[in-house]
Amino acid sequence: MSVLAQQNPEIKITVVDINEERIAAWNDSNLNGLPIYEPGLKEVVQEARGRNLFFSTDVDKAIDEAEMIFISVNTPTKTYGQGKGLAADLKYIELSARQIARVATSDKIVIEKSTLPVRTAQAIKDILDNTGNGVKFQILSNLEFLAEGTAVQDLLNPDRVLIGGEQSEEGKEAMEALVKIYASWIPRERILTTNVWSSELSKLVANAFLAQRVSSINAISELCESTGADVDEVSRAIGMDSRIGPKFLKASVGFGGSCFQKDILNLVYIAKSYGLNEVADYWEQVIIMNDHQKNRFAQNIVSTLYNTVSGKRITFLGWAFKKDTNDTRESAAIYVADALLNERAKIVVYDPKVSEDRIYADLDELNTRTPKENRELVTVVNDPYEACADTHAIAILTEWDEFKEYDWKRIYESVIKPAFVFDGRKLLNPKNMTDIGFHYSAIGVSKRTD
Ligand code: UGA
Repeated sequence: MSVLAQQNPEIKITVVDINEERIAAWNDSNLNGLPIYEPGLKEVVQEARGRNLFFSTDVDKAIDEAEMIFISVNTPTKTYGQGKGLAADLKYIELSARQIARVATSDKIVIEKSTLPVRTAQAIKDILDNTGNGVKFQILSNLEFLAEGTAVQDLLNPDRVLIGGEQSEEGKEAMEALVKIYASWIPRERILTTNVWSSELSKLVANAFLAQRVSSINAISELCESTGADVDEVSRAIGMDSRIGPKFLKASVGFGGSCFQKDILNLVYIAKSYGLNEVADYWEQVIIMNDHQKNRFAQNIVSTLYNTVSGKRITFLGWAFKKDTNDTRESAAIYVADALLNERAKIVVYDPKVSEDRIYADLDELNTRTPKENRELVTVVNDPYEACADTHAIAILTEWDEFKEYDWKRIYESVIKPAFVFDGRKLLNPKNMTDIGFHYSAIGVSKRTD
């Protein structure tokens, strides 16, 4: 929304949330206090805020005044009842639709921005048409393809913008109104209009394909470790085939983030609900492979440290699900930590952007152990050298650039010997690390010497 406001100074955009603390943070004069860390975001907010971009808790007023309303609420995987563990929880979408219906006194275009199961727009339409004050609503689907860490760049220069709408005259008019807003900075040929269901499904499928590539290369990383191939070399070789392409072929400790797993589970649920079991099983395998990747990373640490990590200190460099973000949702680090804590390890975490509170909250949410136990077993520190001192092993969970720049000799001097580094991101230079003296192992690289 900030970029939309920055690029369209003549349009007034009000972002509303019932969470007062969050809105206060968006209004904070200290731009380093914004609730989300994203490179380039504070500059965009600085330019537009107070000019045509406003943050407020007065939801009803903003609904009443708006001609267009974007619904961008959370749609987590259901943790209860029918579809538990698979389907998206549409509670917040429904509440938003009911509030719009109750408050609106003039015609509006309502746009679904949150990723949703296919046919949710229809549910929003039913609620609006049946509980509204007789005003007309057009529902559009305009799902977001930006990735965290590169969000501002992705928004300024997207591969495409997708807008789904009703194929009626009114539907086309509504789509055109939204196309115009994007066309102020994006070439028209990159703005696609489709029917609503194609748009909704495309979002899930795009994420499923991207996650599938990561699980595919991660599956190959295990094979590389057994055969003596190097997964980066395989990625480079296959990525140069223009039909495959080089992106999303970086082997890792497993994908995380708020969307990949949730969207695939959603796809699996939809397929199952139509009785398409082979389709469901096919996509579910992407998640199974990802869980396996996280598990085997943890198991490798245990087996390398002489089959026990009980009472040993293990340092995590990185907790975020990828670099350049403070988002930790579904981060591989959480699950690797859980597996190691089950083996009674003590964990020290350093992440340049993630707060101590967030790390403990992530562990508490697992409900594997009590908050007290989590605080006894896990320590969060603000200095990477302190995090690594007197440790039995260092595990790299996030690909932060700064990890490459550390004085690894200094770190080597301070750790317990033999010194182990487990690189879950294939980030460091293996030769440098072994020359220093580390026992260095990375995802997708064999320890075989034959
Ligand atoms: C993803 C999609 O890339 C966006 O297009 C989409 O809009 C977004 O989800 C969403 O639905 O909101 P995001 O989760 O922010 O974006 O980040 P990605 O760059 O896709 O990375 C996801 C995970 O895959 C990260 O844990 C990352 O480290 C991992 N990954 C990615 C790899 O392990 N290897 C790769 O080659 C690429």
